[in-house]
Amino acid sequence: MEYKIKRGSPEKQRSACLVLAVFEHQAMSLSASIIDKTTDGIITALIKRGDITGECGEIVLLPRVDSLPAERILLVGCGSQEEFSSRKLNQITADVIQKLQQSKINEATFFLPELNIEGSDIARRIEQIIIQAEYSCYQSDALKTDKKNNSKALKRITLFIGDSSSLATARQALITGQAIASGVNLARQLGDLPGNICTPSYLADQAKELARDFKMKAKILNEKAMEKLSMGSLLSVSRGSRQEARLIILEHKGGADKDAPIVLVGKGLTFDAGGISIKPSAAMDEMKYDMCGGASVIGTMRAIAEMKLPLNVIAIVPSSENMPDGDANKPGDIVTSMSGQTIEILNTDAEGRLILCDALTYAKRFKPSAVIDVATLTGACVVALGAHASGVFSNYDPLARELIDAGEKSLDRAWQMPLWDDYDKQLKSNFADMANIGGPKAGAVTAACFLARYTKAYDWAHLDIAGTAWLSGDDKGATGRPVKLLCEFLRGRAGLA
Ligand code: BES
Ligand code: MN
Ligand code: ZN
Repeated sequence: MEYKIKRGSPEKQRSACLVLAVFEHQAMSLSASIIDKTTDGIITALIKRGDITGECGEIVLLPRVDSLPAERILLVGCGSQEEFSSRKLNQITADVIQKLQQSKINEATFFLPELNIEGSDIARRIEQIIIQAEYSCYQSDALKTDKKNNSKALKRITLFIGDSSSLATARQALITGQAIASGVNLARQLGDLPGNICTPSYLADQAKELARDFKMKAKILNEKAMEKLSMGSLLSVSRGSRQEARLIILEHKGGADKDAPIVLVGKGLTFDAGGISIKPSAAMDEMKYDMCGGASVIGTMRAIAEMKLPLNVIAIVPSSENMPDGDANKPGDIVTSMSGQTIEILNTDAEGRLILCDALTYAKRFKPSAVIDVATLTGACVVALGAHASGVFSNYDPLARELIDAGEKSLDRAWQMPLWDDYDKQLKSNFADMANIGGPKAGAVTAACFLARYTKAYDWAHLDIAGTAWLSGDDKGATGRPVKLLCEFLRGRAGLA
């Protein structure tokens, strides 16, 4: 989609469609009231007749307006003016895009950036509209032969800002919004690819290509290199599969040489069959999404590289399949991780932590200012938080707070869960330093406690995105979460936003 910023007089805009906001109790946005005056009260008349109530999500398309240079008006209900919020702006943006696509309108002028939202300035609102518009236009048809071209009518959105707003600020917001949207989009594309295409080596190739396009450093470790590093835990998972594992490392150097980097670690399990502790077959296809942590980290790297974020950030993506091949881990096997700690593998389906622990040990060498790992780690987290919030666990509370705030601000929410010793005790093994499972209770917490045993050297947080990374059912597809949260967090660390 192409985006433009424009200032001027609403009634003079030449456009295929003016998108204007109306509120409950017969209120309307500033631009809507200007248009209303120049059209002899066309909007007021509709409100009086009860054709539009201003209820949030209501959409009314006026296909002809004789007194304006614009061809059409699309009125969108925004609910109560006082209670208008960022979440509602996202909802109406999605509704408007859907209506424009259905009506095959190829260009529109949005008078939405002007809508007041407490705690969100014009730059934020522009970013948000672009991110949501791109989200709504995403199509998962990469592998369909008929690309549904006709449903992509919309080609250009002009964002109208009031005369008092700064053009420079708005233009910067446009660039930032597009960068974040492209990161979300990349994470979704990678997530939606099936396991037979998106293998560990494919993911590594994609990361290399991204690095080339955006002048980042890329380093890919194969199994031999990982053996040299004694990554016995990660490699034990990969032994059950014919696809070789990869450790993907991407480096964005936006800060000073001396600045300690933030390290993002993403679980890149390209298909999780469970291994010998094999999963039931219902919905097993969705385990292609078990690399969404890795995809979100790669997407975030794309976004921050595109926006040239002045910060040093390193991404580490351990990538493997989890399959029941002849040499696979067997329940009861004991492996030695890169940290030297031994692990009794009581359930081969708890493999995410096995590949992450070695990546987290590897992260130490970068002397990071913080490490955030992102993983579709546990079904238990889906039970606890559903699809609305990612789980946050941290050995440093201010870091958890920072992530939760970033999630709130970017509309990509997360919620903290405990990491207490009481739970850690559930990982006791009779034969090794720890077991890889902690029993049926509090599975999301014991998984995090397992990781915590490998992250004592630095400030660390873990995001369990098992419930948020993709949607099931009719809307099955990757969400690109938590790219928005991570971008927000990193912008905060860079002293921006
Ligand atoms: N990738 C899964 C977690 C998962 C399951 C995410 C369902 C989203 C939906 C992970 O590798 C796994 O299998 N975890 C097990 C752990 C258990 C064996 C302790 C789980 O959650 O069942
Ligand atoms: Mn598993
Ligand atoms: Zn898994």
